[in-house]
Amino acid sequence: MQACSVPFLDLLTPHRELRDELVAVFQQALETAGFIGGPMVASFEQDFSRFCGTRHCVGVGSGTDALRFALIAAGVKQGDVVVTVPNTFIATTEAITQAGATPDFVDVDEGTYNMDPERLRKYLQVQCRVDGGTCRVFNKRLGGPVTAVVPVHLYGQPADMDPILDLAQRFGLHVVEDACQAHGAEYFSKKENAWKRAGSMGKAAAFSFYPGKNLGACGEGGAVTTNDDEIARQVRMLRDHGQAQKYYHDLEGYNGRLDAIQAGILCVKLRYLTTWNEKRRECAGRYRELLGSAQPAIRLPNEPSWAKAVYHLYVVRVPNRDALQKHLAEAGIGTGVHYPIPLHLQKAYANLGYRKGDFPVSEATAVDILSLPMFPGLTYAQQDRIAQQALSFYSGTDLGTSSSPSARGAKSSATLTGNVCAS
Ligand SMILES: Cc1ncc(COP(=O)(O)O)c(C=O)c1O
Repeated sequence: MQACSVPFLDLLTPHRELRDELVAVFQQALETAGFIGGPMVASFEQDFSRFCGTRHCVGVGSGTDALRFALIAAGVKQGDVVVTVPNTFIATTEAITQAGATPDFVDVDEGTYNMDPERLRKYLQVQCRVDGGTCRVFNKRLGGPVTAVVPVHLYGQPADMDPILDLAQRFGLHVVEDACQAHGAEYFSKKENAWKRAGSMGKAAAFSFYPGKNLGACGEGGAVTTNDDEIARQVRMLRDHGQAQKYYHDLEGYNGRLDAIQAGILCVKLRYLTTWNEKRRECAGRYRELLGSAQPAIRLPNEPSWAKAVYHLYVVRVPNRDALQKHLAEAGIGTGVHYPIPLHLQKAYANLGYRKGDFPVSEATAVDILSLPMFPGLTYAQQDRIAQQALSFYSGTDLGTSSSPSARGAKSSATLTGNVCAS
């Protein structure tokens, strides 16, 4: 039988299914010539702020714009130091630099791959000093004041926000969440005894609507969410050349608006986001059933009891990653690596003076992480095939699991038979 390919991400099907609703958005924009600003942007901002549980949402041109504007509006200035994690997309640190600050890093937690609050505490206590006069925190090596922290809700899993927010309060730092991969993810705050949506916990948060995101536009898009009226006002000005009123510029800003067609498209898709996220969580559960027997050699994502992840990416850690990725590619299965080089080791940041070994958890994950196909329309049959191919790659090798590899392989093929081409 000719095996079907499984894409890493299927962006065609949802757009085919929503075709009429999406085309209506284009028609409305054409008929009104309302391309910039206007009611579609205002509606989306209202709907998305309600979804996130925040007072404000300000639509902007991209997730990178959102992070940059949120940092500037929160008060980050030239010469500041802003702390984030090394295992994120470079946009996180680009935005920090573009806000005038220097990015610095703390390593991530072994279990969640998100900012480790304990390492953040050590960073602030050991690598920084508190100025007695101003009570501001200064990084000893870089010299500048540490003014903000950017936890990234990576792969759609929320960072452990309670202790991060506590530390930020204690050391006078602003928290800007990078929620670009986490539309709808939830965190249980013990402090507030409530589930909180990603994007509603920091001083401000940034979302990306890049097409492949859980909520994706048909082009570029982003948003800042916040409960702070002044930050929202500042971001509205920053996205529109610093003007609060046409041609009255209170400050120098940017051309960073969310365009009306993208806002209209996002309004349509937002109505499906909860169902899509549930489907992603179902797919994650199915992967767990199929690959659970290969643990701990294959490490599956760990979702703590305080997290409801939305699985923007389903990332496993595997021995011999590159060879497995090649094997899956030959079987027509698309995968990805998010991300192969931690930011502190990227050429772009050679000037920051970091070395191999500085952030061991991020460095270790970069070597063995593999993102398996994950999208709401992924079928059980496709997942069966992915698991079958992954497990067969290791059959005959000693994965160090409790069952012998061949026995596991036999069990897997018994449970994984079926029409591999069904979709
Ligand atoms: C973690 C993270 N931060 C920021 C961004 C930047 O978003 P955009 O591509 O919309 O500028 C992305 C996008 O991939 C991201 O994954």
